[in-house]
Amino acid sequence: MKGVILAGGTGSRLYPLTRITNKHLLPIYDRPMVTYGIEALVKAGVTEIMVVTGGTHAGEFLRLLGNGHDHGIDRLLYAYQEQAGGIAEALGLAERFVEGDRLVVMLADNIVERSIAPAVEHFADQDKGARILLSRVADPSHLRHLGVPELDSKGRVLRIIEKPEDPPSTYAVTGIYFYDSTVFDVIPTLKPSGRGELEITDVNNWFVSQKTMEYDVLEGFWGDAGESIDAYYTVNDYVRLNGANKD
Ligand code: G1P
Repeated sequence: MKGVILAGGTGSRLYPLTRITNKHLLPIYDRPMVTYGIEALVKAGVTEIMVVTGGTHAGEFLRLLGNGHDHGIDRLLYAYQEQAGGIAEALGLAERFVEGDRLVVMLADNIVERSIAPAVEHFADQDKGARILLSRVADPSHLRHLGVPELDSKGRVLRIIEKPEDPPSTYAVTGIYFYDSTVFDVIPTLKPSGRGELEITDVNNWFVSQKTMEYDVLEGFWGDAGESIDAYYTVNDYVRLNGANKD
């Protein structure tokens, strides 16, 4: 399975911090944010990784990660997103790297307390399609800033709603996604959303419509450090006290 770390975007919700650097290079406790996503993948046995970034600070990723060997990566590739065209567009840049394999995608501002290895194993056993990781989030005002799944009585995903006014469940769709290579046929069919981006939620809803979307519910803490300044500090405080990517 290949790994794709998405580390682009303007990071506008963290302005002015992100006027001078890429969001994913800001510190979480004692090291740059992007290293947590890399550690999550490497600890789950995913050691061929592409980092997709963009903007004016892309060179810093090379300075930080080099050839990836110090981070446990066997093969590290980089891609550059020319404009902030959305998560799905960024993922499309990894097509030739993935070469028909399966992939796990991680938004580099997502930090998890526990290992994602169980989900990697579940997806390896899955026949085809996609898999998402959900996290329990009780507060509706928080869910309004995220993707939220609507589930049927058997617990299957009926659809995912991006930034819902009225959240249909108490789960957030985290920024950790698993796909088979059909994802690269779906991305070119997407239309830009209201915010002018190709949305990962539209990709996921395509797999829901094919009835090939499965999920796991994450145990332990999950945070999107790019959601707001407050969320950034919540994640920092949690990781400082409790660590991240624990077995
Ligand atoms: C993205 C996804 C959203 C998901 C979130 C998790 O949101 O679109 O569905 O819940 O990542 O971090 P964004 O951070 O682009 O607003």
